[in-house]
Amino acid sequence: MDIRVNFSGRSIRYTDEEVQTVVEAMQNAEPLTQGKYMQAFEGKFARFQGVEEGSCFTTVNGCAALEMSAQLCRFAPGDEFVIPSHTFTASCYPYIKKGGRPVWADIDRKTRVVTAESIEKVLTEKTKAVVVVHLYGYVADMPEIVALCRERGILLIEDTAQAIGSTLRGQRAGSFGDMAIFSFHSHKNLTTLGEGGMLYVRDPALRGIVPMLRHNGHCAYEFERPDYWVPAMGNVDMPMLGSDMLYPNNMCLGEIECALGAKMLDRIDSINAEKRERAIRFIDGLAEFPELRFHRESTARHNYHLLVAEMTTGPSQRDRFIRAMYEEKGIKCVVQYIPLNRYDFYKRLGFAKADCPNADAFFDSMVSFPFQHWMSEEDFSYMLEMTREVLSSIR
Ligand SMILES: Cc1ncc(COP(=O)(O)O)c(C=O)c1O
Repeated sequence: MDIRVNFSGRSIRYTDEEVQTVVEAMQNAEPLTQGKYMQAFEGKFARFQGVEEGSCFTTVNGCAALEMSAQLCRFAPGDEFVIPSHTFTASCYPYIKKGGRPVWADIDRKTRVVTAESIEKVLTEKTKAVVVVHLYGYVADMPEIVALCRERGILLIEDTAQAIGSTLRGQRAGSFGDMAIFSFHSHKNLTTLGEGGMLYVRDPALRGIVPMLRHNGHCAYEFERPDYWVPAMGNVDMPMLGSDMLYPNNMCLGEIECALGAKMLDRIDSINAEKRERAIRFIDGLAEFPELRFHRESTARHNYHLLVAEMTTGPSQRDRFIRAMYEEKGIKCVVQYIPLNRYDFYKRLGFAKADCPNADAFFDSMVSFPFQHWMSEEDFSYMLEMTREVLSSIR
């Protein structure tokens, strides 16, 4: 059977105005990187987030923002960071690369994100940082998690890759912690032509380093120069953080992407609201099927970046369901986020040990439905109807 509803790698279609914004930036930007469009995007993003001007930095993707946040953690040998086992691999490995040891926290079975309780359970004397992932677009219990980390003097980083625009008590995801990262990857509710990201840094002292960290250590000479080309066009350096020297990177986002990102901020709240409204329709439309357990959240705390459910009848029924949806109805559901400790990569690194029964049980029975914003109403209705049909047929 041909695929009728694919699990698309592309989340949104651009409006004519957004296309025009890109064309104008292509024609007018000079330079094509690190210019006025970047400054405008970073300023607008900070205002959108309700955080201080100058605290948000565009990056070439979310992973680059994670890499820099990991550098700013300045892990010493033996330092640990707590992270959910149920997340995308890029949430985690940058912190290992920079010297941290992951300690896996379990998720809540209903919300599929970590809680203050599940984090506290695995804190040790060596915990330097906690990475909270607002997975699927749902904001974790941040006030409780912030209080816990403050009390223990632990750095708190929010992986907001999937939760742009989501709010908890009126506050945006990614504005609670010491740092936050965002992704504008092709699959996200806001995408800057396929790649893009943002790093938020609360501490003004750390924040000052980011432009150099992001761009080859470039900085101005501190002395006055009669000739602008002597001793060189510009300096490279990196300030010492205590006794640590950080190595610079080149992780800048181009001007065209920045122009588009700033423009898309005007629409992200309505994209999120439209996805949420559809998610609720889907969930309510399956109310008489207890075989699928969704996380129903009708407030802006969830942006429904992804629409996932747990098959309460277990893994083999889950497999039957996905197979029938694909082979008989042409609808491609997927499974996502095998707990990281179960990958050979993390096992080889010595991080196989985890006590995360909820993450394991959820992953083994989970289904992720196609949920791109641009899915037609006709395809959406078809997917809902076929889900009901397949669930009835496998009972
Ligand atoms: C939870 C999570 N963290 C991090 C990333 C990495 O972002 P990027 O693909 O922009 O590097 C992604 C997505 O791609 C993600 O879903």
